[in-house]
Amino acid sequence: MRMYKNSAKIDTCFQQDALRRCISLRTEDSPSLFKLQSLLEDNLADKMHAMEEYIATMPKAELHVHIEGTIEPALAQQLAIRNNVPIPSSIASLADTSNGYSFHDLTSFLAVYYPNMAVLLTSQDFFDLAYAYLTKAHSQNVVHTEMFFDPQAHTSRGVSFSSVVTGLREAIVKAERELGVSASLIMCFLRDMDAQSAMDTLIEALPHKDWIVGVGLDSDERDNPPSKFSDVFARAKQEGWLVTCHCDIDQKNSIEHIRQALEDIGVDRIDHGTNIVEDERLVQMVKEKGLGLTCCPVSNSVVTRDFKGKEIVQLLRSGVKVTISSDDPAYFRGYVNENLMKMVNDANISKEELLTLQRNAFEISWISEGKKEYFLRLLEKY
Ligand code: ADE
Ligand code: ZN
Repeated sequence: MRMYKNSAKIDTCFQQDALRRCISLRTEDSPSLFKLQSLLEDNLADKMHAMEEYIATMPKAELHVHIEGTIEPALAQQLAIRNNVPIPSSIASLADTSNGYSFHDLTSFLAVYYPNMAVLLTSQDFFDLAYAYLTKAHSQNVVHTEMFFDPQAHTSRGVSFSSVVTGLREAIVKAERELGVSASLIMCFLRDMDAQSAMDTLIEALPHKDWIVGVGLDSDERDNPPSKFSDVFARAKQEGWLVTCHCDIDQKNSIEHIRQALEDIGVDRIDHGTNIVEDERLVQMVKEKGLGLTCCPVSNSVVTRDFKGKEIVQLLRSGVKVTISSDDPAYFRGYVNENLMKMVNDANISKEELLTLQRNAFEISWISEGKKEYFLRLLEKY
């Protein structure tokens, strides 16, 4: 019997259901059923291909990507050699750098993620890192991206704040000029470090204020609630920065952290935050305020048991401004197009919903109203 090449792709819509029924009917016993099954398979493969094409050519904004999480093993290896530092063990142990890193949950991911940053030392390294990501994003028709960076993960190793920002900034300027990609920087505080370190980092960033559009909060959420950083966020707002905050999936006290981010910190958006579906009052609040959630299905599927497709779709269909991003694409092995395709394959979202996700992304992006209108018009013409 012929089997569909990728059965994970075909489990929801009508044709998928029909195909499943066909397969269960032992088509080798019936030539006409065999023919019907073949037709359904070809039709589905064509539809999937058309969807891939639709996603690939759609103008997109990516709002949740950690620049340090875009370092592909081959680039990390090159930088280690250039800087004469040991090749990180997660890469040294790979037979082939095109295979990607190996880990299985959030803890094992972070245990690979932070040591790999040791190869990033000079402003040229940060330039190369960001330019490689921006080139990849451009190849996927991302027209605007907002990139997180973690200064404390570098300054704590003796790399100067200005080396980090200068390298990233130069990559943004070059990408804007040569690729036509719009990009900006969001400075994240590491929530497993103390609030004073975050405040010191904020002060250190002030001379570079114009290069940074807002601040965020990432790393290990356990026992590190948003409220730990209330003074830092209050100061960031005084300085004119916008504010976001990771509220990771299925954390201890997820709902309370989301509540703090919304009510106590007064964030402008939330990164992940899908556990909000468990609290209707908070869902209403984000809807009323027009706040967005930056969701990352491929990353979710690696660090938790579930990729939260059902919850993302529920929020999207109830009018919450949900968007889709890649998080740490070199680690989770999916850039923005692969993340959108996961929503098509495994959460059965439609073309119209793909458009809504992108409209949301441009609407909640931290760009000027003029740029926003331009990108939204581009999308409406699509
Ligand atoms: N930093 C980089 N990736 C992260 C993630 N998925 N969660 C929290 N902090 C991160
Ligand atoms: Zn993230």
